[in-house]
Amino acid sequence: MKHAFSLAALAALVSAGTITKRQAAGVTDVGILNYALTLEHLEDKFYREGLANYTQAEFIAAGFADPFYDNLKEISFDETTHVSFLSTALGAAAVEECTYSFPSTDPKSFVALASVLEGVGVSAYLGAAASIANKAYLTDAGSILTVESRHSSYIRAALDQSPFPQPFDDPLDFDEVYTLAAGFIVSCPSANTAKPMLPLKAFPSVALGTSGTIVSGQTITLETLGYVLQAADENTPIYAAFITVTGPIYSDAMAIEGGFTTVVPNGVNGQSYVVLTACKDRITDDTVAAGPAIVEVTNAYPSVFA
Ligand SMILES: *[C@@H]1O[C@H](CO)[C@@H](O)[C@H](O)[C@H]1NC(C)=O
Repeated sequence: MKHAFSLAALAALVSAGTITKRQAAGVTDVGILNYALTLEHLEDKFYREGLANYTQAEFIAAGFADPFYDNLKEISFDETTHVSFLSTALGAAAVEECTYSFPSTDPKSFVALASVLEGVGVSAYLGAAASIANKAYLTDAGSILTVESRHSSYIRAALDQSPFPQPFDDPLDFDEVYTLAAGFIVSCPSANTAKPMLPLKAFPSVALGTSGTIVSGQTITLETLGYVLQAADENTPIYAAFITVTGPIYSDAMAIEGGFTTVVPNGVNGQSYVVLTACKDRITDDTVAAGPAIVEVTNAYPSVFA
């Protein structure tokens, strides 16, 4: 009942095209819903493709014992339902599914990528929350966020990672999320360009160049593949800013061939996000130079929160 009411309220507000003064330029609730739908389409297609690619027996052989496969189907169903919920609410304004390229090639790499996507989904909803003007949308988005975070915990546990590696999740802003999502999007239907959307831009991408277990205090490599990131002048330092809910944690970035090295600070754990910046007082779309890169930090329990 509540669900149906909420959906009707959503649809009414979408058709009214509500825009409030609280929102930043170009940011509307309808745009945010389409941003959420963009991510849900990606996740939905990812799970449908993975379930079509790999059999239950192959998941078991890869170490994911039952009921993992059934739970994966449940997750896939959840994502499909999120897509239809948002699409119904948005009506003609809803963006359509794009075509994607996922780098997973077997059950193991599929589950690893699922974990990354769920983590990004959680950070995306969390980061969008403060920009949502209408409270009815906020509850709807929150009810998706909590489910995505349970997906994330379940999959992390299946990968022998801590299901809840830190007391706070990291919020990502629209462009930071889009930068990560854009890496999987090959092309979108031309009809999407006419739909109300946030003014999204992708930053130059940054890839983690360090393999194996990563802990706070460790030096890692951040690769700027295909481009050279330089500050305005050689006296301006570049920082690696690790995003947290209480603000970025800065770490000096040292230029090397093909990118930078930096030391993973205390205060991050689990799926963490790092951007490159030449500014040490704030991280906004105007100060991010490149990234985020995703860094899985595996500090010993209890986490390092100095
Ligand atoms: C499914 O298999 C195809 C063909 O090998 C591959 O291109 C695609 O990335 C796979 N998708 C997933 C989600 O693993």
